[in-house]
Amino acid sequence: MKPIKVGLLGLGTVGTGVVRIVEGHQEDLASQVGSPIEIGKVLVQNKSKARNISIDAEKLTEDAWDIIRDPEIDVIVEVMGGIGLTKEYILEALERGKHIVTANKDLMALHGPEILAKAQQNRCDVMYEASVAGGIPIIRTLVEGFSSDRITKIMGIVNGTTNYILTKMSQEGAAYAEVLKEAQELGYAEADPTSDVEGLDAARKMTILSTIGFRANVALEDVAVQGISSVSKEDILYAKRLGYEVKLLGIAERQDDLISISVQPTMVKQSHPIASVNGVFNAVYVYGEAVGETMFYGAGAGELPTATSIVSDLVAVIKNLKLGVNGKQASLAYKEKKLKTDEQISSKYFLLLQVADRAGVLARITQVLAELEVSLESVLQQPTPGSPDAEIIVITHDANRASIKQALETFKALDVVHQVKSVYRVEG
Ligand code: NAP
Ligand code: HSE
Repeated sequence: MKPIKVGLLGLGTVGTGVVRIVEGHQEDLASQVGSPIEIGKVLVQNKSKARNISIDAEKLTEDAWDIIRDPEIDVIVEVMGGIGLTKEYILEALERGKHIVTANKDLMALHGPEILAKAQQNRCDVMYEASVAGGIPIIRTLVEGFSSDRITKIMGIVNGTTNYILTKMSQEGAAYAEVLKEAQELGYAEADPTSDVEGLDAARKMTILSTIGFRANVALEDVAVQGISSVSKEDILYAKRLGYEVKLLGIAERQDDLISISVQPTMVKQSHPIASVNGVFNAVYVYGEAVGETMFYGAGAGELPTATSIVSDLVAVIKNLKLGVNGKQASLAYKEKKLKTDEQISSKYFLLLQVADRAGVLARITQVLAELEVSLESVLQQPTPGSPDAEIIVITHDANRASIKQALETFKALDVVHQVKSVYRVEG
């Protein structure tokens, strides 16, 4: 039977996994789609580079147009990353009627609507399961599994690199820079790992998940982003002492059509299942009005887990091809988004302040919070090691973001507050 020919843009960590799965699972795949799947041509930057996989040298090309213009190629798998040139390739491939499978969250978060519109015009599929949470089929779950429900909250660990770093810092007291290097060597980190550690990668994934989950036109700039570069070993130790773990959480919430989306290091109660999601693993909580609480867990990055999602998308595209129903996805983001203001966004907070160790200081701090109607769950004061100062640790009840911002401004202006050392959202 005539094989379905696939063009592969990129043969790095994920591309290598795609070749391994397509070749290694050929019989199972062919039985599902009714014909063999063949990797026809592969785009790389440098054909002479040593590879972790043996591949027919004839298939390698350094010219993307060899693949995009090849009439024999039906589907293009894009795993080269990047935005500008990659978008140009994908739009041109769609124009030529080729279906796209991609792992590129940068591209889908920024240009998803344009790419999906172009796909629909040309009756093509664009599938991007691997763009969020590696091997967890979370996009398919939101699109298909929860098509019947109204999603109210999506919360999760959606970046493997930062979870790997935070886990090693928490469990082994490892140094941040050293663990980041390990995550890069293991193929988890982005080409520029700043986007992992500064929370941008997670923000892009939360843009994609909330667009689908809330069926609204969410944009990357709607996400409030903070990464993990400011998380200290001291914060992690404090968190542990108080019964929390520090995790980089993406949180998207909806109440009466008002939404808020954020990515930030968060103190998660150790009793909450997400606190024990460690290493490169990701977990996504989805709350629906009807279904209640659900949780999805699995490897969030790496060669084979990510390639699993890619090849599943490939199977879906080829099945559609056989049925003649490509490009028939319903429009997902039909709602105009309405964002919550800081006054409408509420959560618990952890504050760590370094203050003058003298009478009345604790009372002054709690007075500032009381004036802003921030109610307190617990307060702890202790000496600062190696300093005449004291440290005050406050955990609030639910408080709105505007009041917390105002409190921090007020603290910074008080002479008895020598430093606002840490501020964390608290969950669980
Ligand atoms: P990678 O290891 O850096 O591989 C990139 C591949 O693309 C390389 O083979 C490179 O060629 C090729 N390439 C890059 N720019 C090119 C250009 N301008 N022209 C021709 N070839 C080019 O990246 P990766 O980790 O596999 O990630 C690929 C994509 O998947 C990214 O969008 C990433 O965000 C996404 N993703 C990655 C993971 C993960 O765990 N790594 C998980 C989910 C999603 P050479 O080999 O010749 O250098
Ligand atoms: N750099 C990403 C991560 C790859 O660490 O989660 C998976 O998208």
